[in-house]
Amino acid sequence: MIIQDLRDIQHEYGYLPDAELRALSRRIEMPLARIEEVTTFFPAFRLERRRPATVEVRVCRDMTCHLRGAPALIAAGQKVAAELNADGGDVEVTGVSCLGRCDRAPAVWAERQPMPEGEHAWVYAAPDAKRLEAIVRTLAAGQKPKPDPDAAYEPAGNFLTGQLDVYARNGWPRDYRAVRGFAEMLVEKRRRCVPRPPLVDGQPLQGPALDAYVREAHPWLWKLNESRLGGMGGAGAPAYQKWLDVWGQRSPFDEDTAARPALAETKATLFDKYVVANGDESEPGTFKDREIMQRAPHLIVEGVILAGLFAGCSSGYIFVRHEYHEQVEVLRAEVRRAEAMGACGANVFGSGRAFPVEVIESPGGYICGEQTALIEAMEGRRAQPRNRPPDITSNGFRDRPTILNNVETLAWTPLIVLTGGAAYSGGGWKLPATPKLVEKPPRFGGRRLLSVSGDVLRPGVYEVPIGLSLGELFSGPDYCGGVLGTLKAVATSGPSGGILPARYPLPPDFHAKFAEQLSRKKDRARKDGDARRADAVKAGKEYREPAEEAYSLEEWFVATHLPAGSTHFDLATAPIDLKFFGMMADLVGLPVSPLLGAGIVVYADTADILDQAVCFTRFFRNESCGKCVPCRLGAEKLVRIGESLLAARRAGGNAEVAAVRSDITDVAWALTQTSICSLGTSAATPLACALTYFPDEVAHGRAE
Ligand code: SF4
Ligand code: FES
Repeated sequence: MIIQDLRDIQHEYGYLPDAELRALSRRIEMPLARIEEVTTFFPAFRLERRRPATVEVRVCRDMTCHLRGAPALIAAGQKVAAELNADGGDVEVTGVSCLGRCDRAPAVWAERQPMPEGEHAWVYAAPDAKRLEAIVRTLAAGQKPKPDPDAAYEPAGNFLTGQLDVYARNGWPRDYRAVRGFAEMLVEKRRRCVPRPPLVDGQPLQGPALDAYVREAHPWLWKLNESRLGGMGGAGAPAYQKWLDVWGQRSPFDEDTAARPALAETKATLFDKYVVANGDESEPGTFKDREIMQRAPHLIVEGVILAGLFAGCSSGYIFVRHEYHEQVEVLRAEVRRAEAMGACGANVFGSGRAFPVEVIESPGGYICGEQTALIEAMEGRRAQPRNRPPDITSNGFRDRPTILNNVETLAWTPLIVLTGGAAYSGGGWKLPATPKLVEKPPRFGGRRLLSVSGDVLRPGVYEVPIGLSLGELFSGPDYCGGVLGTLKAVATSGPSGGILPARYPLPPDFHAKFAEQLSRKKDRARKDGDARRADAVKAGKEYREPAEEAYSLEEWFVATHLPAGSTHFDLATAPIDLKFFGMMADLVGLPVSPLLGAGIVVYADTADILDQAVCFTRFFRNESCGKCVPCRLGAEKLVRIGESLLAARRAGGNAEVAAVRSDITDVAWALTQTSICSLGTSAATPLACALTYFPDEVAHGRAE
């Protein structure tokens, strides 16, 4: 892969010499311009014309690090660098996007060229200005200041004692027993994969007929359906659906291929399918994948192999962000261990089925976490998102069907395969006694990992039952242990979901409106159900009541948390549940729709919300891939608006807030209409939240 070739060159020289790029172009027979398209895009590549300083120190400037004083730390580091450079030194101190160590903010990353053999950049956790000065001076003197590696750090979270690691919880050795069980079934049935669903009258099976086929022919995959495991990368799409979609397409291991081994090689290239684990978490405030990769790599490797064997794929890849060098090494060692055991490689546990797994180090950039951009990067191109459709499950890596899951999603699959779908789906939050007026209380299914940082006593990675309240997460003794001050605001999805206020006033007619809406909704649902039932009867088909209609989440929430007389919605009462967050804006009248992601940053009353919102906006500007003109220009315009608000407030007051609000609305509209990916559609959210939820603070500053 071209990315790996470039990494090897840079590792040898500290940058990419022009002569080496020309030699690479000849060696791999790729035009130099095509190689430069890649080298000029990714921040991790350093060209000869922008050769790095001998000492490079980068301080994270995003969310939690900004809150913990990154701007002052960068200024202090730059002062030392200026002194050293005046004496002939070659030192650069700059800000950088999130380094994935938000639980130890502010995070610092340092390199001294040439790096010692076998070493990568060093990470330093939460240094104050004095320690940063010592780090810079030690590096400039040609020595290595003692770093703070992830391996030596014990995070505060509960994830190591949670349910995720089915091996640790049961006291089993990490022996890939889920893969072994599946391989033994293949041997017994003399197959190399489970036959994919047949066509009936030339049409693919659908609905109940497809369900029945999967339950019978592929009970292993059916467990994933029973688990209701949703993707942990953001959107929460059912993992089962992706695996099913890819399994349903031609595989090099299909029966006819197996029956004609002479053709196997040809068919293997024609019908290859792939699994990719996305370990490129770059959203500020998010670091849960770092911990899984560091401390439970066997779950990810096993999840990749299971996906590959279940869906008839040819090989698997684990794509890891480049700031996670330690985790890349841990995963590579784990893949070697799995190969030695026979769990992956040329012949999985003697089944005759090959499934190699490779770990790829990302060339860097937030946008690589977007799944189509990630595929572009794997193919050695600029990481710019693709227009969809087609989807990755039909046209992914090398234009072939690809299962692309977040590493956490894959890490849950050994538990599901070994102990059943209900073991996962039954792990949701158990509701306390439900008041009589709620007919059918909602059920929360499953568990997930969250990264929590900012103004809490114990930042860390927490495994939570879905449905747990945010307040319990922030203050519960088993979780973060309390807010450092009074809870003021929360960013519930890195910078993308903006900043939500801890308390939001309910409209005066809230309860009357809610009752009216609920009755309309129930009426509509009843009519829709009647129509669908009648259609099914007419077509002679089985009709199943949709499970979702049994839920009455908003009814339960209003009855239990917003009874008559309530004047405010308390964010701390919100259940950690994608479905609830999807309906929250409508339910309590929030003007800006919230998101729920894996990175939650908590702000106490000491936080300056406008300053934070501008920091979020700069992140989007810095990380825009530039493919869509409105995003490229709009993100910059938003930063200028935010900085002008800060400047005006410093000068004594923002008289222009109303005018600026309409500018932000215009830019937001353009971005949501034209952006290919969610970076563009989210870029205006932080400023919109600041102006909507904290107008007085934007105009006059924080009340002391
Ligand atoms: S919205 Fe922005 S980040 Fe996304 S593809 Fe377009 S330019 Fe790139
Ligand atoms: S390391 Fe600074 S915000 Fe993540």
